[in-house]
Amino acid sequence: MTRIFNFCAGPATLPLPVLEKARDEMLDYQGLGMSVMEISHRSAAFDALAEKTEACLRRLLQIPDEYAVLFLAGGATTQFAQVPLNLASPDKTGAYIVDGSWSKKAFVIAQRLGLAHLAASSESSGFKSIPTAGDWDVDGNHAYLHYVSNETISGVQFRQPPETGLTLVSDMSSDILSRPVDVNKFGVIYAGAQKNIGQAGITLAVVRKDLLRDLSPVVPDLQSWKIQHKQGSRLNTPPTYAWYIAGLIFDWIEASGGVEQMARLNREKAETLYAYLDRSDFYRNGVPAEFRSHMNIPFQIVDESLHGRFISEAEAAGLSSLKGHRSVGGMRASIYNAMPIEGIRALIEFMQDFESRAG
Ligand SMILES: Cc1ncc(COP(=O)(O)O)c(C=O)c1O
Repeated sequence: MTRIFNFCAGPATLPLPVLEKARDEMLDYQGLGMSVMEISHRSAAFDALAEKTEACLRRLLQIPDEYAVLFLAGGATTQFAQVPLNLASPDKTGAYIVDGSWSKKAFVIAQRLGLAHLAASSESSGFKSIPTAGDWDVDGNHAYLHYVSNETISGVQFRQPPETGLTLVSDMSSDILSRPVDVNKFGVIYAGAQKNIGQAGITLAVVRKDLLRDLSPVVPDLQSWKIQHKQGSRLNTPPTYAWYIAGLIFDWIEASGGVEQMARLNREKAETLYAYLDRSDFYRNGVPAEFRSHMNIPFQIVDESLHGRFISEAEAAGLSSLKGHRSVGGMRASIYNAMPIEGIRALIEFMQDFESRAG
């Protein structure tokens, strides 16, 4: 068996021990004589799985009891609507910091519902920066302040959560569990699974319980955090296998030393690649150092006509999915928790070799 290094932004590479455990349990989950995919989401076995998974996540992120943990479907994109539907009203809208494509999408969806206010945007910088706090157009009359902690496409990341008196809401789809976070600072944290939580299909929402409220009857029950909380995230049939994989990922993070250890490894990986890019006259990364992501590192070749050749030769060398997002071009290395430092070393070795042949 040959495992390549997969730099895909999501669905992304998964830790080998998680895949092996899933393989070993595929046909017979815990002696039940069937796979976890085949058991009822209302069975005692699934109750135990859900309980264990939530408990492990609570330990990893030190989530206090005052917060509900929801495992939902629909991806982070569904949360772009659920956040305003559950928190805002036409006279108390959500304020949005737009510093990349995903925060723009979140803003546009909330705006369509008549529930959004643009606090700041860095679109004029090509989303290569984060708007300075002093320039935000925001006051105390908003239901929340929304930001995306890591912009997966342009590769910019908040070092710290923004300081605000408002309820803080964060889309952490592409950096959750990659570093410690003080959950107490947040009203809501949400994240799609397919980067650091595992398999696409399940979406995590951590919601401070005082924010759970009844919604207008025209809003479908599935969109209500309060109803989902009451139903143990099982108002309808959830993506059970993705939920199971999330549990295996949480176990793997805990066994690997927790989010502090993930942060140390992620810093080392990112700094190694940025240092190489900064020394190079052949490659470049256009994001100022203070905004650089530790999860997604876009880079270009100064001679852009070489991008296609780089991507296809890298693929042939076992370095997969380095093509940048279609909206920005170039290359992007997504190096989430499950990417080992060996993957970064192999990428740099390939980049050196490519430069010596094409430069
Ligand atoms: C930061 C961020 N938010 C939201 C999304 C959308 O997630 P989904 O496809 O799960 O709806 C993505 C997808 O990659 C993302 O990176």
